[in-house]
Amino acid sequence: MNITIKNEVDIEYMRKAGKLAAEVLDYITPFVTVGVTTNELDKLCYDYIVNVQQAYPAPLNYKPDPNVSAYPKSICTSVNHEICHGIPNDKPLKNGDIVNVDITVYKDLYHGDTSRMFFVGEVSPHAKRLCQITYECMWLGINQVKPGNYLGDIGYAIETYAHKNGYSVVQEFCGHGIGKVFHENPQVLHYGKPKTGVQLEKGMVFTIEPMINQGKRFVKFMPNGWTAVTKDRSLSAQWEHTILVTEDSYEILTVSSGMPPKPSFIA
Ligand code: MF3
Ligand code: CO
Ligand code: CO
Repeated sequence: MNITIKNEVDIEYMRKAGKLAAEVLDYITPFVTVGVTTNELDKLCYDYIVNVQQAYPAPLNYKPDPNVSAYPKSICTSVNHEICHGIPNDKPLKNGDIVNVDITVYKDLYHGDTSRMFFVGEVSPHAKRLCQITYECMWLGINQVKPGNYLGDIGYAIETYAHKNGYSVVQEFCGHGIGKVFHENPQVLHYGKPKTGVQLEKGMVFTIEPMINQGKRFVKFMPNGWTAVTKDRSLSAQWEHTILVTEDSYEILTVSSGMPPKPSFIA
């Protein structure tokens, strides 16, 4: 498997792309309210990325392989039982919805990829708990990132914590290497066994983006060919950061002033 190792110049550009992606999430936050449509959010993000950031929304027309249709929008908006790749539409968000907004920005030949969960109006305690535990899953995965550790350590940390809390881990999608290419090696599974898989090295950059379901892990695809939903229609949540492996630990590349703080139990 060829995994690109980023040099100092690459990393400088990836910090910029990552920051822009996170800043789109900051920008869109106040708009994620009862009654807004995900198409309106898509348009706002497109305009911000293109006109303010002078960058490009990487999902727009993205076509990872010849058998799938090009992705038609600039962002992904996955509501309630949608796991990922929700395509923005004209349906207004309603009180109690949980929605993942996933932003990938392409700037100066490099990508930055990050997503957060948003609450629409008053959200039920069980939905809030799912979002919180999923956030902690992402951070427990991130906490495993350092040279010498294995991708399996990341997956194991995420899976163990999800199961301990009564949730399941989606297996059909994973984190991914990222750089000049949107999705590159390695695949970063959100489940696994300690000390298995690829060993981490300084200069690797990849995403960690666990999708955690309240019910069973199984996935169904919508007729649009993109959107994955939970087969049992239970709620699903996801958070994503782009991470650099450093000399002795990690650096989050998708940072912004509005990003939520890491959980207090992470060192
Ligand atoms: N941003 C998603 C990820 O985390 C990928 C979206 S691809 C799209 O990997 F085409 F659906 F936008
Ligand atoms: Co990603
Ligand atoms: Co993403």
